[in-house]
Amino acid sequence: MTKKEKLDQLNALMSCCSNCALRKGCNKVVPGAGNPEAEIMFIGEAPGKKEDEMGLPFVGAAGKFLDEMLASINLKREDVYIANVIKCRPPGNRDPLPEEIRECWPWLEKQIQIIDPKLIVTLGRHSLGRFFPLMKISEVHGKAFRREFPNLGSRVFYALYHPAAALYNGSMRESLIKDFKKIPKVLEKI
Ligand code: URA
Repeated sequence: MTKKEKLDQLNALMSCCSNCALRKGCNKVVPGAGNPEAEIMFIGEAPGKKEDEMGLPFVGAAGKFLDEMLASINLKREDVYIANVIKCRPPGNRDPLPEEIRECWPWLEKQIQIIDPKLIVTLGRHSLGRFFPLMKISEVHGKAFRREFPNLGSRVFYALYHPAAALYNGSMRESLIKDFKKIPKVLEKI
């Protein structure tokens, strides 16, 4: 099976997930989108209102900003894979609960196994926290680190601020744009 076929199969299973209560309260599951053969996988937090309506990740204002930053390093959405830690929208866009993150993990784990990206870029503190609970995003953004994970092997991670958080915060925005531009160099070094 190709990676695309494997992801399609996984997405079909995801759409009838009942691991937590979020699926019942949301409109569409947002598994992820992009190139199944991508070298870079971006992992955000959870779908928002627009994402929930469309079933696609990062289609609102934060997504537009993400597209602009991708363009700044000559990439398009179709070149990378974009997913979230949580696949269903939490009510009122509240932060995901620890148990929701835990219940949704097998889906993300399987996505990483299938795509097998060279680089995982975490967007925001919830995404970073899923892999590195003790790290502070203010201290590690713009840094790449390799870690071994059960079932995932040795992986390179690169932490970024979340585009939605940075959108209206001047200094965070500047950091994010600067960190983002370092992605090609980080990838080259792997
Ligand atoms: N924010 C996220 O973390 N993910 C999305 O898909 C959209 C906004």
